[in-house]
Amino acid sequence: MSVMRTKSIEQTIREGDEPEYQLKKRLTALDLTVFGVGVVIGAGIFTVAGRAAATLAGPAIILSFIVAAVCCGLAALCYAEFASSIPVSGSAYTFSYASLGELVAWIIGWDLLLELMLGASVVAQGWSAYLGVFLDRLGITIPESIAYGSHFDLPAFLLVVVLTVLVTVGIKESMRVNMALVALKVFIVLFVIIAGLGYVNTANYTPFIPASTATADTHTVWTAPLLQTIFGMEPSAFGVGGILAGASLVFFAYIGFDVVATTAEEAKNPARDLPRGIIGSLVICTILYCATALVMTGMVSYKDLSAEASLAKVFVDVGKPGYATLIAAGAVAGLTTVVMTLLIGTSRVIFAMSRDWLLPSSWGKTNPKTGTPARITVAVGTIVALTAALTPIGKLEYMINIGTLTAFFLVSLAVPVLRKRRPDFNRPFKVPFNPWLPWLSAAICAYLALTLPLETWVRFLIWMGLGFLIYFLYGYKRSRLAGRSPEDSGYPSMTST
Ligand code: ALA
Repeated sequence: MSVMRTKSIEQTIREGDEPEYQLKKRLTALDLTVFGVGVVIGAGIFTVAGRAAATLAGPAIILSFIVAAVCCGLAALCYAEFASSIPVSGSAYTFSYASLGELVAWIIGWDLLLELMLGASVVAQGWSAYLGVFLDRLGITIPESIAYGSHFDLPAFLLVVVLTVLVTVGIKESMRVNMALVALKVFIVLFVIIAGLGYVNTANYTPFIPASTATADTHTVWTAPLLQTIFGMEPSAFGVGGILAGASLVFFAYIGFDVVATTAEEAKNPARDLPRGIIGSLVICTILYCATALVMTGMVSYKDLSAEASLAKVFVDVGKPGYATLIAAGAVAGLTTVVMTLLIGTSRVIFAMSRDWLLPSSWGKTNPKTGTPARITVAVGTIVALTAALTPIGKLEYMINIGTLTAFFLVSLAVPVLRKRRPDFNRPFKVPFNPWLPWLSAAICAYLALTLPLETWVRFLIWMGLGFLIYFLYGYKRSRLAGRSPEDSGYPSMTST
């Protein structure tokens, strides 16, 4: 069946070498790790963690972070194997094109777009919220009609516009800005941990795993974890089920290490540096998250944790409002880098898809001056800016998580498939215990996805349906692998195999 057609790894790499589609190779292992930490630490720890502790897991939220880290760690090993052996732009999309076939590749690419674009929009809104808090503490008030939560969130809009310009100008330049902001963000997280330690009251850790109870959010079939609905279980939060539901929510906090793989083609020495960048950023973030979660839930009772700006609020609660101002400022800086990295990731995925003609090929030309896919970047920036400005704040994190978990699931399954199909292929980094470890990774991803609410599944299936429609109406016929001549696609010289 032609939807199963795969693109050979050699062809993938060869196409990446076509001059007009070439990206500059200038990122080192350190750049990649910074890039990873830059996108990973964001709204997840600054806002979502507090909400997850207050509503789902209590002090045991640290266990949710550990479960999510194990899931991401296993998937990261799979990503690292692929990224080191197929150092081409496009991340999971490209890997699956080489192993599971065009349709799966398209599904993953479509998923990644959901993850990255919605992620950028949500974090831009979160940034706007923190900016509001920060300015407020300085005595400046943004007019309500254009502030966070209004019909047009102007700060979020402007943030995305400015970042789009930076990214379009060239990735190295934006990397420099990124490096400074990431350092500041890590400093702020360390500050929360160290300054907070002195205010920990161990009484707040009892009960560590609060008894399972029904809550408003888990009352309906629509909003309860899908697994509870399927097995007819009493809808509940907290308890062991709460830890797992918490894991599927704080999973959001780890999203982004996979985005490192989208810049594979821009790495100087991808075989060595990509696994380091991917796994390194994940390890750093896991340690910081667990420590932050422990301190946060030790400072105040989990019941008093705020759903917004929780890390700043805990310091107000213990009588240190000055620290709260500093943390709000750090969050503003931190969320900036997340939005920027997500924008870069989105444009790279579309770039890879248009280079394969699954999306209009003309979109993917790189600008000769900047070496970046300028057209795509501007288009993505515009969509994200408008989404961030106009969409009401909702449960988008869950949508992002389900898209990402699906991509992780498919990438994990792809590892043993590719090992079998291409045993000869050079793999500078190999997942240990193949195929068991990749299968375990896929199983955990599937389990976490099933703890997401039914409403998220329905929205996700609608998004996927739209993707299928576009694929069968456009990409299926236009694909480079469909054997059309380049003239038919309005494309310069390139033959498909
Ligand atoms: N991991 C990113 C964050 O926490 C998406 O904001």
